[in-house]
Amino acid sequence: MTVYETIRRRRSIGKMTGQRPTREQIEIILTAATHAPNHHNVQPWRFIVLAGEARAALGEIMAASLARRLESFGEPGEPLDDKKLALLNKERTKLQRSPVVIVVVAERSQQSNIVEIENIEAVAAATQNMLLVAEELGLAAMWRTGDAAYDPRVKQWLDVEPDDHIVAFLYLGYPAIPRLERQPVPVEEKTTWLGW
Ligand SMILES: Cc1cc2nc3c(=O)[nH]c(=O)nc-3n(C[C@H](O)[C@H](O)[C@H](O)COP(=O)(O)O)c2cc1C
Repeated sequence: MTVYETIRRRRSIGKMTGQRPTREQIEIILTAATHAPNHHNVQPWRFIVLAGEARAALGEIMAASLARRLESFGEPGEPLDDKKLALLNKERTKLQRSPVVIVVVAERSQQSNIVEIENIEAVAAATQNMLLVAEELGLAAMWRTGDAAYDPRVKQWLDVEPDDHIVAFLYLGYPAIPRLERQPVPVEEKTTWLGW
């Protein structure tokens, strides 16, 4: 497959089987990430690869954090209703929707010539490399974030600096559902040609 074909074929797959990709496959995906463009060669990415019990452990932190946010909306000491308890349970177990979750982090550089957003952009490019190589390897992948990506307690548990950014929770596994063809808005509606 050409890169163009892989780009067009790739779909985010949210439902995965329990089969864990091999460490070798994950290392290929991580290596692809490290070949992304980045300004001043700062290589601002960092990866935390979660599998097995580590997903459950981080899920507990995410649920505890959500509980605090939910409590802050109600009266002090008010018990959480069934809807909120269901949300907490979803948060607690969401990382277990796939056998592997790679947390992709953009480090904030201390160099004065680095523009913060450019590091985030570089890590987004790295994440796309990961999605494309996962596609080539026949794996399922999905880029997710959600409130947990911006949560200080989640960052602390992952040993991510408060000023660094979690750009993606990249869910990785094998597809459990068929893919549908993407129907993007046509290029003509998104493009202005000047000087042609
Ligand atoms: C920065 C970013 C964060 C995202 N976060 C979520 C998310 O938390 N949950 C979700 O269902 N999709 C999320 N998505 C969207 C999916 O990853 C995916 O791109 C979308 O469902 C479109 O499917 P496709 O990749 O097959 O075109 C996010 C995408 C990006 C780029």
